[in-house]
Amino acid sequence: MAAAGSRHENWSSRSAFILAAVGSAVGLGNMWRFPAEAGENGGGAFVLFYIFCVLLIGLPVLLSEVLIGRHGQASAPESVRKVARDSHASEGWSVLASLGVFAAFLILSFYCVVGGWVVYYIAVFAGDLFQTGLTGGAFQGRDPSDIEGLLPGLFGNGSLMVGLNLGFLAVTIFFVARGVSSGIEWVAVYLMPLFFLLFLGITIYGAFTGNFSEAVAYLFTFDFSKLTGEVMLAAVGQAFFSLSLGVAGMMTYGAYASRDTNLGETSGIIAGADTAIALLAGLAIFPIVFAAGLSASVGPGLMFQSLPIAFQAMPLGSLIGLFFFVMVFFAALTSSVSLLEAPTAWMFEKFQMKRPTATLIVGFGAAVLGVLASLSFNEIADFHPLGFIPLFAETNFFDTLDGVTAKLFMPIGAILTCIFVGWVADVRLIDQENGLDGWLHMTWRALVRFVCPVALAVILVVGLTS
Ligand code: PFF
Repeated sequence: MAAAGSRHENWSSRSAFILAAVGSAVGLGNMWRFPAEAGENGGGAFVLFYIFCVLLIGLPVLLSEVLIGRHGQASAPESVRKVARDSHASEGWSVLASLGVFAAFLILSFYCVVGGWVVYYIAVFAGDLFQTGLTGGAFQGRDPSDIEGLLPGLFGNGSLMVGLNLGFLAVTIFFVARGVSSGIEWVAVYLMPLFFLLFLGITIYGAFTGNFSEAVAYLFTFDFSKLTGEVMLAAVGQAFFSLSLGVAGMMTYGAYASRDTNLGETSGIIAGADTAIALLAGLAIFPIVFAAGLSASVGPGLMFQSLPIAFQAMPLGSLIGLFFFVMVFFAALTSSVSLLEAPTAWMFEKFQMKRPTATLIVGFGAAVLGVLASLSFNEIADFHPLGFIPLFAETNFFDTLDGVTAKLFMPIGAILTCIFVGWVADVRLIDQENGLDGWLHMTWRALVRFVCPVALAVILVVGLTS
């Protein structure tokens, strides 16, 4: 295995690759974005369409991405270039990965802002535990509106927002600068199992003490009339965000996978684990929220505002709240490292620089955008960078980064990936890499060639024009 700073490294084992890729996939997208999006988009219709998107679009695209990376054994744009070269196709296709690298950079910058909120809540719950001890719920004697006010209170404090954002980004930079095996892999191998354990505990707690049946009915009752173009675009955007697709993240991780890893099987494990955790997150959060009589459709405030109120009603509430946010922190960190790795790998390869230098440069850029994203909740709240586009007319800087990447970059990146893998790349090369046989192989190929690009294009057009 090569040392950090050299051109190419590998995961130390197949399970390290799986943990790192699951770590990239499972993050704020599952714990914060999925329940919020499901709640805002009407519950069951969104959830079932989301599952449909994961199976028919997400999984085939995931395999296409890791396959490109593994063949190229380099940064995402360079890997696409190598597949194109070996297929006698135009190297210009690498633009699909360059767009992805740029999108990963954009996502990183707002992802670390939310990572900062998680750190804030860890501090709040730790402080509460320290003050009130183990007995009773969290925030004893405080009015629920006070607890709900914690997030707007944080939003109103520009310098605290910036500080937390930069703190979270600094931790991410630290691990990525250390390299694949001693940095990123370490985070995944130690933090992901811890995350799973904590997560299981919270879910079981929610199932036994919360309003589980209402949550199940809410998440899994399919009401066809609610399936609008906008809901479909939101669901496909969420599927991509959650699986880290369309932004070169999985291509970059695939490049560190060894030749004997079966990519078809591994992609199935990654997508299965990610989807299971998103659904479990819904089944952990909604019972608690419903039991406390709170609304499901508050959007991004669900995890940060409603859930802490629910923790107030629970025995050991401050301890459970602290556990919960520590777990979300681990999940977020294993994702943010993958977001930083995609542009970093491109940069140190392209400019022949040392990994730590490239990490710092990309990190600095993300810090600048992150500061703007942090301030878009306070100082520059009225700044709508893409105000001239109707879809983003009222959208602040932070939400613009989120909306543009999930609703434009990710689906477009995925459409291009499907066309490239399904129509442009040499079939024999693809067959050697994908690890699929028989009907599975044929199904995957049909999905990548026909179903995914057409479905994505239709959803994109309907979603953007409705
Ligand atoms: N999949 C991550 C999550 O669900 O939180 C977010 C993400 C990570 C998106 C890496 C894209 C990416 F390349």
